[in-house]
Amino acid sequence: MIKRRNLLAGGAVLAASSALYAWADNRFTSQATDAANRPVLQFPPLIDTVDTGKFLVTAQSGTTSFFPGHPAETIGFNQAYLGPVVRISNGALRPSVENGLSWPVSAHWHGLVVPGKHDGGPHLPVKPGEVWAPDMEIGQQPCTAFFHTHIHGRTARDVYAGLAGVLHVVDGLDRERGLPDTYGVDDLTLLLQDRRFSRDGQLVYANSMMDIMHGMTGDTIVVNGQVGSVAAVPKSVVRLRLINGSNARIYSLFSSDDRPIHLIATDGGYLPAPVQLETLRLGPGERAEILVDFSDGHGMSLMSEGDPNAGMGGMMGRARGLLDEITGGRRFEVLPFLVDERLPAKVTRIPDVLGGDQPDLTAARVSKLRNFSLDMGMGGGMMGSGGMGRGMMGGMAINGQPFDMSVINDRVRLGDTEKWVISTSMLAHPFHVHGVSFQVISENGREPRPESLGWKDTVVVDSQTELLVQFTQPASEETPFMYHCHILEHEDAGMMGQFTVS
Ligand code: C2O
Ligand code: CU
Ligand code: CU
Repeated sequence: MIKRRNLLAGGAVLAASSALYAWADNRFTSQATDAANRPVLQFPPLIDTVDTGKFLVTAQSGTTSFFPGHPAETIGFNQAYLGPVVRISNGALRPSVENGLSWPVSAHWHGLVVPGKHDGGPHLPVKPGEVWAPDMEIGQQPCTAFFHTHIHGRTARDVYAGLAGVLHVVDGLDRERGLPDTYGVDDLTLLLQDRRFSRDGQLVYANSMMDIMHGMTGDTIVVNGQVGSVAAVPKSVVRLRLINGSNARIYSLFSSDDRPIHLIATDGGYLPAPVQLETLRLGPGERAEILVDFSDGHGMSLMSEGDPNAGMGGMMGRARGLLDEITGGRRFEVLPFLVDERLPAKVTRIPDVLGGDQPDLTAARVSKLRNFSLDMGMGGGMMGSGGMGRGMMGGMAINGQPFDMSVINDRVRLGDTEKWVISTSMLAHPFHVHGVSFQVISENGREPRPESLGWKDTVVVDSQTELLVQFTQPASEETPFMYHCHILEHEDAGMMGQFTVS
């Protein structure tokens, strides 16, 4: 349950607990009122492909008890909800994606810079009972990436139901960097989602007009598929790999006791050196790796500010976000952490340097300027074409054109660097581009926020964001790359375009 906590100065945060959100459902309040009594957070099974370069993921259905005694119908890769964490390294990679469901799914490698034919996007569906096994070649910086189904018109509901997992691209040098690297002990993968549940603990995918307009947000935080758990950490520096796997919620993360968050990696890999932040904004599809120092033995809670896009009483967007900031309301707990001194404490200081790559495309020759306006027409209303979430909204588009599988919106030359200017009105939209890493050069007319300074493939656009994008991977007309809003309801409703690179 989303809780509002009394934020205590100093250490003993975990004892505090208080009122629910006004709008939160309190049916499951017997859960998780006190961190010390909560179940300990579990991590997804780890598949290490570093030696073999091979792995199998099977899309399947099952049941998940988010609340004990209330099994919910869910889907996942290799398990009932979500998927494994797959550790990969540069070189040959041969995934096998098997579809054990009765409808098409795909496995889009969100964050892998690979050709269009390996991208796993909407043009690469895996039919029921079939297997997709691309022969891939990975060549990129270590990072935390994401994989999820990407069938046009049903991405939102299938990701909501669980069809997503995590990738770690590794190079085996983290010890030399002074970084925690023990999976599930001091190197924690946290897939953050928010969900709505029915009275009997089933996932609710509402898909109402409002849910499509704002994107589907929930009232309950689910971390790695678990509700109300607490992360146990050693008395040391701990690395958190944060993946925003929510359909629509934008988090603004901070620690309950003002301890700094040290940003070490953005979507595309390590920063040159850690950057200390008070608040880390993370939109859907974005990843960030942070270090948090628990060597004083005190736990804390990872908190978030309210979603700037969350609507209330019919109000939308900025006005509401501003109100939240002014009132300081609607903060909630994402995950509490308790120090367990039995766990091995390996890294006790924040490294000074990481050796990551500082994006600098500003010296490159920019061959083209493209403008993308993320449009939400208000007048369209329900179009009800009958499919699962398909064509529900009028007016979701980019540059006035709703996504069409048969239209190539842009053609880019392989090897070029382009300037892309993304604009929005009304809501903040997380803009994502397949097959590339980009540099954010300005946000709303100003210097990029610190969390946008590294290599990115997804960035929250408040009003206008300028990118320099380098196109290093080919994509044909048969399997073009996508650019889209990563609020999945917006994407399914047409806020997506496609491009070739050749
Ligand atoms: Cu994570 Cu095109 O998506
Ligand atoms: Cu992607
Ligand atoms: Cu959007």
